[in-house]
Amino acid sequence: MHSFYINLLLLQENKVMKKAQEFILENKQRFLDELFNFLKIPSISADPQYKDEVKKAAEWVANNLKEAGAENIEVCETAGHPIVYGEKIIDKNLPTILVYGHYDVQPADPIELWDSPPFEPVVKKTDIHPDGAIFARGACDDKGQVFMHMKAFEAMMKTNSLPCNVKFMIEGEEEVGSPNLAIFIKEEKARLAADIIVISDTGIISKDTPSITTGLRGLSYVEVEVTGPNRDLHSGLYGGAVANPINILSDMISKLMDEDNKITIPGFYDKVEVVSEEERAEMARAPYDEEAYKDAIKINQVHGEKGYTTRERASIRPTLDVNGIWGGYIGEGAKTVLPSKANAKISMRLVPHQDPDEITELFSKYFKSLAPDSVTVKVNPHHGGYPVVTPIDSNGYIAASKAMEKSFNKKPIPLRSGGSIPIVALFEEVLGLKSVLMGFGLDSDAIHSPNENYGLFNFYKGIETIPYFFEEFTQLEK
Ligand code: BES
Ligand code: MN
Ligand code: MN
Repeated sequence: MHSFYINLLLLQENKVMKKAQEFILENKQRFLDELFNFLKIPSISADPQYKDEVKKAAEWVANNLKEAGAENIEVCETAGHPIVYGEKIIDKNLPTILVYGHYDVQPADPIELWDSPPFEPVVKKTDIHPDGAIFARGACDDKGQVFMHMKAFEAMMKTNSLPCNVKFMIEGEEEVGSPNLAIFIKEEKARLAADIIVISDTGIISKDTPSITTGLRGLSYVEVEVTGPNRDLHSGLYGGAVANPINILSDMISKLMDEDNKITIPGFYDKVEVVSEEERAEMARAPYDEEAYKDAIKINQVHGEKGYTTRERASIRPTLDVNGIWGGYIGEGAKTVLPSKANAKISMRLVPHQDPDEITELFSKYFKSLAPDSVTVKVNPHHGGYPVVTPIDSNGYIAASKAMEKSFNKKPIPLRSGGSIPIVALFEEVLGLKSVLMGFGLDSDAIHSPNENYGLFNFYKGIETIPYFFEEFTQLEK
């Protein structure tokens, strides 16, 4: 008797879910057309010249959510770019899923390296995507991925199969460190009350090996400036007798790592989480092909901290990288100049228990100590962020795992990522909410690079998986 009703319930559920999946199949082309319109808006958050375009993208998202069936939509103005909010509350007693994503994108530079214009999306076939991939800035990071949630929501709304409440919070400043979202979530705790946050802004191992991201690295980002003489000097008249800030800066940078590629900043590793041998063995079981890894980015040899594998170096270990370096004369031909200043941008990716403010402080102290008396050094901190690890026994993770298993016919592997989404740690601290990192990108998507792309397979697989996630999560929370 009892099991009869449970079966009936499941049957009903499946029917409802089937309708949403059918709706997705019937509307595939329209979804893609809409995404193209979204991708055409150059919502580059880092460049003030694009402020109006960023706003246009926010309004586009708000409109699209409205047409999908969301209510109480608001384009929330901030001191920077707006945050789009929308919701559908069907029953206060049901669980609530908060969807977070970002509609801002990275700058397109170097623009000359794109095979097609970054804000004129096209579908092209590739080796990895014989069925086609969408080429445009933001195709994967994160317009394509956040849009999967908007369309999965529309499918559930229009087929009457939304199983729980949903809230959307889609920001326009992720690529610049989410300065105003950090304020927004502190002010809007009540409006953002939910049971879980779901984010699609990460990736999977490959199209036939799904994975769920269980960790993100933190970040400390600094800009340094080394100043020598008060003006550029003739390198013949002064060269050899006055410190050259570029030579000095290069020398200082080279001292930040030793021959084992360990970072030399005193105290840098003090709080680094020691990952157990068990977990490392578990990680090593995930499929990984070093030859393919090298071939994909055309390098002859991998490089990194002694004693760790490539995957470990890019996920559970902290790093230090120069992201940009400039100074002196870089125009056509030769100009004999001894520059007054040299600059560099340096990022440190952090792992659990490292504190970005503390690391910035340790860096600053050590870097200044490396400078000879012949120059002065300034260290300016940029945005930072705390690392995160997410549990694999929470309802959110289990629901994502079951949902992906349904859509991929394969159980996803938990895996820590090397990237950062700094706001995720604040979601937990401020809102007390865990996040599920259910992204669908691939390493080959070239996010932040020329020719960013997102496979049609990945795009549609995401839209298919999300309603399953809603269903599974609602069941688990009951
Ligand atoms: N979506 C990425 C982060 C990401 C990508 C995580 C792939 C895991 C896998 C996000 O938009 C991003 O680019 N974050 C920045 C940090 C931010 C402060 C600029 C990053 O990781 O560099
Ligand atoms: Mn992103
Ligand atoms: Mn990004």
